[in-house]
Amino acid sequence: MAEPINVVVTGAAGQIAYSLLYQLAAGSVFGPEQKINLRLLDIPPMMEVLQGVVMELEDLALPLLGDVLPTADPAAAFKDAAAAFLVGAMPRKQGMERKDLLSANVKIFKVQGEALDKYARKDVKVLVVGNPANTNALICSHYAPSIPKENFTAMTRLDQNRAQAALAARIGVQVDKVQNVIIWGNHSSTQYPDASHAVVDLSGGVKAVPAVVNDDAWLNAQFVEMIQKRGAAVIAARKMSSAMSAAKAAGDHMRDWWIGTKPGKWVSMGVVSDGSYGIPKDVVFSFPVTITDQKFKIVQGLPISDFARSKLDVTAKELEEERAEANSVLQQ
Ligand code: NAI
Repeated sequence: MAEPINVVVTGAAGQIAYSLLYQLAAGSVFGPEQKINLRLLDIPPMMEVLQGVVMELEDLALPLLGDVLPTADPAAAFKDAAAAFLVGAMPRKQGMERKDLLSANVKIFKVQGEALDKYARKDVKVLVVGNPANTNALICSHYAPSIPKENFTAMTRLDQNRAQAALAARIGVQVDKVQNVIIWGNHSSTQYPDASHAVVDLSGGVKAVPAVVNDDAWLNAQFVEMIQKRGAAVIAARKMSSAMSAAKAAGDHMRDWWIGTKPGKWVSMGVVSDGSYGIPKDVVFSFPVTITDQKFKIVQGLPISDFARSKLDVTAKELEEERAEANSVLQQ
């Protein structure tokens, strides 16, 4: 049995955390040999609710769960953290402009970046789920200069899972038969869900998804729009945002980062751009990656069509705008 690790979940009294915490305590993210201590961060008014979550965690009676600390103090939460799920964020309220939303969140992620810098392990793996996730991750990394930029990522795995499920349904196969669909860019409605490099395992062998679907008009229009707007469709139906699927995706993202991707398989993660595929540096952009030894590599050399190029440019431009707005908030 490995030494226990400290795992932070922020927004721990919220709805995504409620599904995520069970997965962590059950060992489905860090593996069945890894004991974890949970550090649950939320804001002071949520401490009573959080106490209820702590009681439920005790009542799970799971052997991998070590000690659990509910707190409103980032310094206590991030002490010796090996992994952090930054789920808590200021939600968009009616009539709120993107700038207002960014402004509220930039402040939260500055504080958490500073706390990570001071108190966490230098190899801490940070997954930002709270929106606007990509730019929040960039801000957080900026305020934690002693931790490598590669240790800050944003979640686009829910979009990837949605895209994979939609393609599997269209083709009529189980979801795990479809691989290597890519989410490029921002976790927002400008993201580009790209099926052009995806493959499907059929009884006759592995085939290219575009050839099997044989309907480029659908892949370039309805499919893209369906994935971009899936979150809004869930809210319209459930009257609350995706939580179970978001928590599952957060677990998938961290598990692949911790344990590695299978040979030939890519996953999408928002990472600090190194300029690959002509994307501006220093925005957190979702790329296809492979992971070994807890380090990701952006998949290189994929052919990019003119259509894909135009989609990549739109989502990159949005991220540059978000970065500029975030910087203007920070300079105030
Ligand atoms: P929720 O509203 O149920 O929970 C959020 C929790 O965060 C609340 O308990 C709140 O008190 C807490 N919080 C607020 N400020 C905090 C701070 N400074 N420190 C610690 N905790 C703080 O929201 P839910 O449904 O759990 O969603 C959380 C976030 O995840 C939202 O920003 C949502 O937009 C985002 N999200 C991202 C997805 C993605 O694919 N990247 C998918 C679905 C949701």
